[in-house]
Amino acid sequence: MERRLDFEIADAQVADADALSKIINDAYRGEDGATLGWTGVAHLLKGPRIRVEEIWPLIYSNDGQLITARYRQRLVGCIYASCCGLGIGEISLLSIRPQDQNFGMGRALLKAAEQVLVDRWGISRAVLSVLAPRPELQAWYRRRGYVETGSRRLLREDGEGYGIPAQKSLYVIEYGRQIAVS
Ligand SMILES: CC(C)(COP(=O)(O)OP(=O)(O)OC[C@H]1O[C@@H](n2cnc3c(N)ncnc32)[C@H](O)[C@@H]1OP(=O)(O)O)[C@@H](O)C(=O)NCCC(=O)NCCS
Repeated sequence: MERRLDFEIADAQVADADALSKIINDAYRGEDGATLGWTGVAHLLKGPRIRVEEIWPLIYSNDGQLITARYRQRLVGCIYASCCGLGIGEISLLSIRPQDQNFGMGRALLKAAEQVLVDRWGISRAVLSVLAPRPELQAWYRRRGYVETGSRRLLREDGEGYGIPAQKSLYVIEYGRQIAVS
């Protein structure tokens, strides 16, 4: 398989918001309703994962950084790293355009987000949440050094902004990893 080592990682700009909302929704839901990626969740959550107006505050936030990946000038992915206090940072919205998955960009964005947490806020531990019925994605995070923290919670019926749950009793499992010496 072709290796895409020449992609660029940079902080998101306001002009990126529209393209990023499409990438995030396509990654989580499948482009134009089709489930393209192996980690799509269209069968678990309905409706958009994010709206463009929810992206702007992430770009302007002082407590978080939206980070992008670009391949040949085209946006292909993003991740959000935010500071939650007590030396803990949260990672969310990791998304790679379905057609650009499996080239190592997800891995690279995760590393970049961890580095931002360490460099910008002196954070030593990163946490993230994964839906329980996604064992392959959990295995992907475990291969990146993340382990279950023991925290599991039921997703509220309104979907908490993740989308509208398509089944009852959707659990979210928290994973964490030490990213720097505390
Ligand atoms: C999860 C995601 C970000 C990974 O991005 P990516 O750029 O494809 O990731 P990489 O290229 O770095 O790694 C691909 C990995 O997928 C694995 N993979 C590919 N196809 C797979 C499949 N059908 N089943 C299981 N694993 C698979 C590869 O083995 C590789 O893992 P490895 O590096 O440990 O060997 C991407 O799939 C995505 O955007 N998913 C939708 C949104 C999402 O679920 N985000 C995470 C929310 S917590």
